[in-house]
Amino acid sequence: MRNLITSLFLLLLFNSLAAQSRQKPINERVDSVLAQMTLDEKIGQMTLFTTDWGSTGPTIRPGYREDIMQGRCGALFNAHGVTFTRELQRIAVEESRLKIPLLFGYDVIHGFKTIFPIPLAEAASWDTEAVKASAEVAADEASAAGLHWTFAPMVDITRDPRWGRIMEGAGEDPFLASVVAAQRVKGFQGEATFDEPNHILACVKHFAAYGAPFGGRDYNTVDMSERMFREVYLPPYQAAIEAGARTVMTAFNELNGVPATSNKWLLTDLLRHELRFKGMVVTDYTSINELVEHGVAADEKHASELAVMAGSDMDMQSAAYHRFLKGLVEEGKVPIERVDEAARRVLRLKFELGLFEDPYRFCDEQREKEVILSDRNRSIARDVARKSIVLLRNEGVLPLPKETKKLAVLGPLAADKDNLIGFWSAAGEGRHCVSLVEGIRNKLGENVELLTAKGCEITGDDKSGFARAVEMARQADAVVVAIGESREMSGEAASKVDISLPGVQEDLVKALMETGKPLVVVLMNGRPLTIPWLGENAPALLETWWLGTEAGNAIADVLFGDYNPSGKLPVSFPRHVGQIPVFYSHKPTGRPYQPNDKWRSQYLDESNEPLFPFGYGLSYTTFEIGSPKPDKTSFRSGEVVKVQVKVTNTGNREGEEVVQLYIRDKVASVTRPVKELKAFQKVSLKPGESKDLRFTLFEKDFAFLDQNLEWTIEPGEFEIKVGNSSDNVKAVVVERVE
Ligand code: NOJ
Repeated sequence: MRNLITSLFLLLLFNSLAAQSRQKPINERVDSVLAQMTLDEKIGQMTLFTTDWGSTGPTIRPGYREDIMQGRCGALFNAHGVTFTRELQRIAVEESRLKIPLLFGYDVIHGFKTIFPIPLAEAASWDTEAVKASAEVAADEASAAGLHWTFAPMVDITRDPRWGRIMEGAGEDPFLASVVAAQRVKGFQGEATFDEPNHILACVKHFAAYGAPFGGRDYNTVDMSERMFREVYLPPYQAAIEAGARTVMTAFNELNGVPATSNKWLLTDLLRHELRFKGMVVTDYTSINELVEHGVAADEKHASELAVMAGSDMDMQSAAYHRFLKGLVEEGKVPIERVDEAARRVLRLKFELGLFEDPYRFCDEQREKEVILSDRNRSIARDVARKSIVLLRNEGVLPLPKETKKLAVLGPLAADKDNLIGFWSAAGEGRHCVSLVEGIRNKLGENVELLTAKGCEITGDDKSGFARAVEMARQADAVVVAIGESREMSGEAASKVDISLPGVQEDLVKALMETGKPLVVVLMNGRPLTIPWLGENAPALLETWWLGTEAGNAIADVLFGDYNPSGKLPVSFPRHVGQIPVFYSHKPTGRPYQPNDKWRSQYLDESNEPLFPFGYGLSYTTFEIGSPKPDKTSFRSGEVVKVQVKVTNTGNREGEEVVQLYIRDKVASVTRPVKELKAFQKVSLKPGESKDLRFTLFEKDFAFLDQNLEWTIEPGEFEIKVGNSSDNVKAVVVERVE
């Protein structure tokens, strides 16, 4: 009995000591772990290796189990699933000297197993709650599969659709992209308290300006003015950091002569001192080694020195810190304080996630079974997917009647599943996707006869399937034809000089259109395509991007009018690849464009205008947006400008409209864009219903960088333009007075 009482007492004492130590500030706990670590172990915390499950480059270290045991890596990526991560974690916490838990990262970009629309598509929803909900589900599923950390959001602005990674960001505009970036961080991280193991660390990438490579060629050089960088490219990173993102990833590219991974100005002066980022910086994949190829480092040891001293805390897959950092410290080239600082940042994340208390917190088989691909997650994915669809053209064809008796569902993507998950689809599998044919079948049941054929492949010049497809179209009441890109045609390492529709797909549409049947073109792709003929001739054209697991159901919702399309383009669609970059917020130039006036800034052989502009997208109803009504005609320093706008559904269907507010600074000491998005609201209206929307413009909305790169607002007139697309606005003028 006495023994039992003693044991109970000791147990209580132990628990209360553990509880007290849990309550100690994280900093103290981090320091107490750090104090026990050897230099090798600290460097281990600064090292991230892939397991052999998947990679986006060479897998240079296969022996990761031994690495864990020896404390040579503090984090792993690409491992997922409770069984696998639990086993790896077990090795770390049972077989390594200090028993420090591992951090598991993965590219959970748009869903883990339930795949959501690609990020560019989600941005097209202009629905901030939908964007957040998508990231929440991704985090829920990823955390249920043993993961702690996603390498997302990717917030790189791009104005170049040749760049394959355009699919992974939010498009061309700093304001929209910033809103999306912050929402995605909040979705992944929740309140970032990690009280429940259903959120994961976010990683803002790629710092910085990765979306502006010369020629749209992935990994290529970036060279831009500091003004352009700060006004256009920096804001989304900043928004994500302000939203609390715990980690930042460096970029592969150089920025104005210095590769991001060794760029002290970027990683320390700007990120730490100016943006006050407190978290951890991880490099991109082998980007330390690549400093040698860039030509700024003599060898990989030198590269390690440059990277660590610039501010790269964790080395992804270069094994450069592992091989060289100890020597650099011993030679006095890297102060131990810098190593301590980086290791501390990594340990801190592990404490924040609660891994020191319970390294298996994210390893719950039961939750893994329940959460992943649950009905709830699929239904959220369907909702986000239909909100991401943009109706580009509709000559009275859509919505199709549900009474349709015979429908031809044609094209190489009509019955396809594998491509629907798009690039960066984590653990997603095509077999879980609802194809377009299945989605239509789910919607219309057995009442409809579906005639399906590919007609052609996505690539190649074989037209031998056209005749059969045309025959089916002839027999049908209406035709839906699904064409576009396969999933590896956009994404990382997928830049293209020709961004028209691949293969003979456009010819297939032309052949089908000759039947005169009502026809809907459903585009599935990862980037804006140059499709002027379709853009001007298709009876109906739906941009569905790559919508993920629920793609077919979501498209069917739109085709048959159960959901009224509400998406708006987050990026301009060029008419011709030679126009790139084409974006709405361009400068006026001294010779603004006027068609047919040769001595203007224009092309001889193509208009300046995009095929479809930023902010554009149709609905099955129509909306009237009134003139913006500001609450004052002039404003002074410290005052806000409130703008009221009336929007009315003038059609006969319920629908959502995205009301967009742009400004233009008419005269300034530095040239200003012809329009800059400053606010938007998505509003749902019944037929005939009106709403008065209120926008508030703050001082920062009128500010720009002056000639000394200081933020300023100059007195003078500003146009406030409101509409439902960047090319369809009504304007009013307000004046800023001294
Ligand atoms: C390289 C990509 O640029 C980056 O975005 C990704 O997170 C890593 N590979 C890891 O897969």
